[in-house]
Amino acid sequence: MRAMTQADVDAVLAIEQAVQAYPWTRANFDDALDNGYICRVDEADSGEIRGYAVLMPVVDEAELLTIGVAAAQQRRGLGRAILGEMLEAARGRNIRRVFLEVCSSNVAAIALYRSAGFSEIGVRRGYYRNAGGSEDAITMMCELMDEKNGQA
Ligand SMILES: CC(C)(COP(=O)(O)OP(=O)(O)OC[C@H]1O[C@@H](n2cnc3c(N)ncnc32)[C@H](O)[C@@H]1OP(=O)(O)O)[C@@H](O)C(=O)NCCC(=O)NCCS
Repeated sequence: MRAMTQADVDAVLAIEQAVQAYPWTRANFDDALDNGYICRVDEADSGEIRGYAVLMPVVDEAELLTIGVAAAQQRRGLGRAILGEMLEAARGRNIRRVFLEVCSSNVAAIALYRSAGFSEIGVRRGYYRNAGGSEDAITMMCELMDEKNGQA
């Protein structure tokens, strides 16, 4: 894993548009980079970008804005590894809680998030909209506090 740069946006956007039901635009990635969000890519030894994620820190909380793995690379542990790195990056910034929104029909992502320690805290009705209609979003949260010593 390494930091995403502007030079990665074409490759990241290609994955995003292929795998996400409600994909980000180039402008969304540009803004995330410009605003200093935590943007990471997973790069194979061949130089191929296989996955990415963007986390927006706000004081001591953060929101996972997007995460994706190229279709041909899915189900090999990359998504779990990328999510784990994002949570480590958040801990490194003393972030206490990470939130995210996920489509209620996205069983793969929901299973990944649950197994990484996220739990469901709410539903936003009709949050995702496109020409085909709308879908509910599930809001999930992961507490990063260390219960033993109260440190993030
Ligand atoms: C969600 C996503 C990032 C997971 O990436 P991945 O590399 O395939 O995930 P992993 O191989 O690390 O799997 C981790 C866990 O996720 C769950 N999971 C992943 N794919 C799944 C699927 N198709 N069905 C059910 N559970 C799935 C499983 O719990 C899995 O653990 P297991 O393999 O031990 O059973 C990937 O499917 C993806 O890019 N989806 C499209 C984009 C997306 O929906 N992003 C999230 C919303 S922003």
